Amino acid sequence: MSLIRSQLVGTGYSLPAKVLTNDDLSKIVETNDEWISTRTGIRSRHVASDGEYTSDFCVKAAQMAMQNAQMTAEEIDFIILATVTPDNTFPSCAAKISKILGLRSGVAAMDINAACSGFVYATQIADNMIRLGQIKNALVIGAETLSRITDWTDRNTCVLFGDGAGAAIYKAAECEGKNTDTGILATKIYADGSQYDKLCSDSGVSFNQKSGFIHMDGKEVFKVAVPSLVQGVEETLAIANVDINDVDWYIPHQANLRIIDSVAKKLELDESKVIVTVDHHGNTSAASIPLALAESIESGKVKKGDLVAFSSMGAGFTWGGMVIRI
Ligand code: UT7
Repeated sequence: MSLIRSQLVGTGYSLPAKVLTNDDLSKIVETNDEWISTRTGIRSRHVASDGEYTSDFCVKAAQMAMQNAQMTAEEIDFIILATVTPDNTFPSCAAKISKILGLRSGVAAMDINAACSGFVYATQIADNMIRLGQIKNALVIGAETLSRITDWTDRNTCVLFGDGAGAAIYKAAECEGKNTDTGILATKIYADGSQYDKLCSDSGVSFNQKSGFIHMDGKEVFKVAVPSLVQGVEETLAIANVDINDVDWYIPHQANLRIIDSVAKKLELDESKVIVTVDHHGNTSAASIPLALAESIESGKVKKGDLVAFSSMGAGFTWGGMVIRI
C-alpha cells in the first residue's frame, strides 16, 4: 500500500568558533581534564561569544541544510525549532529565523521546549504534518546557547554543556509502505512530569522574571537516562518493523559517553555503529542529535540507504526515539 513518508533531503549545522577545553575549565572551577573525560567523555565544547545568539547558529545550520537539499527558502512550508534557549521570551525564535531566511508569509513557525528530546519531538510533529498532507517541506532545527544559562561557578554542571545548532529538511514523497522505504519509518515521544525538578532551570519568566541557571541531580538523571534511551530505540524499531541487527548507525543524545556505552551494550549494538560527538560538542541539549546527524552525513559516515536509530532523554523528564532510512 503506497503512503506518504518524510524523506530526509538535507542537513546542516553550525557551531560557535570559540572552543573551551577541559584545561580551560580547570582555570575557572576546581576540576581537571581527567575527571571530566573519564566521567563524561567530554574533552571540549563550543561556546557562543558575546553578540552571538541561538538564531545565528540556526540560520547558518538551516542555510547549509537548504543548500544540501537544493531547496530555496520559497519551498519551505513549515519551520519548527526545538530549544530551551530562544533569543527572546516571545515571539518564537522560529519566527525570527523565518524572517532572516526569507520564508514565505503564511508559513507556520513555532518553537517547542522538550529540552534534550526537543529534536525528536519536533521531528515527530513535522513528520505527522507531512504524512497528513498538511505540508510538503519541513525545516526542523535543534539549537541551544546553554552557556547563557550555565552557572560558571558550579563545577557539577558547567563542565557538561555546549552551544550549537543542527538542522534537517524533510520532504513528502510517495513510498511503497514497506520497512525497506527511505524516510522516517517511526517516531515516538514520551514524558514523565513527576521528575521535572531533577533537571531544570532554577528560574523562569512567570516564576521570577529571570532565565536562571541549570540545576541537575546528575545521578538520578543518569539512572533514568539509560532505560529511557533503550526504550526509545526498541519501541521505534518495533513500530518500524525492523530488527536491531539491520541498524547501520545509532545516534543517541550526547550527554555522557558512559550513558551511551551502557545503552549500546543493553541494545547489543557494536560500538562501531554508535555515533559519538559528545567528546567535542559536550551536551548541547536539543542540538545534540541534529548536530551529530549533520556531521556524520558531511563526513560520509552516514550514507544514503543507511538505517539510523535515534533516541534522546532529558529534562521533563522527556524522552523519545525515531528510526530513519536516509
Ligand atoms: O542531557 C540530559 C541528560 N543528562 C544526563 O544524562 C546527565 C546524567 N548524569 C551524568 O552524566 C553524571 O551524573 C555526571 C557526569 C553529571 C556526574 O557524574 P557522577 O559520576 O554521577 O559524579 P557525582 O555527581 O556523583 O560526583 C562525584 C564526585 C563528587 O565528589 P565527592 O562528593 O565524591 O567528594 C563531586 O563533588 O565528583 C565531584 N565532582 C567533580 N570533580 C571534579 C563533580 N563535578 C566535578 C568536576 N570536577 N567538574
